Amino acid sequence: AYVITEPCIDVQDQACVEVCPVDCIHFDEGEDRMLYINPDECIDCGACEPACPVTAIFAEDDVPSDRAVFKEINALWYSDK
Ligand code: SF4
Ligand code: F3S
Repeated sequence: AYVITEPCIDVQDQACVEVCPVDCIHFDEGEDRMLYINPDECIDCGACEPACPVTAIFAEDDVPSDRAVFKEINALWYSDK
C-alpha cells in the first residue's frame, strides 16, 4: 500500500483524494491534521504519489526510514472505523 507521511500535516491539499480510483484516502475534517490511506483498500496504482504537491506520499517500501512510523499511523486510523 501507499503511505501518507509527515509533510501532509496541516497542508491537507487533498489532490490525492481527487485522483485515487478506489476512494481509499480519508480523514475527519476539522479533527485530523493529515489524511490517511487505507492499506486494505489501496491497489498500489501510484496515482496519488505525483499528485501530492508536498511529496508526502510514498510506496510502502520507499517510505524514508525516519518516517517509518507513518505506515502504522495510516493503518491505525482505519482499525477502529
Ligand atoms: Fe489510491 Fe492508488 Fe494512491 Fe493507493 S496508490 S491510495 S489506490 S491513488
Ligand atoms: Fe496530504 Fe498531499 Fe494528499 S498534502 S492530502 S497527501 S495531496
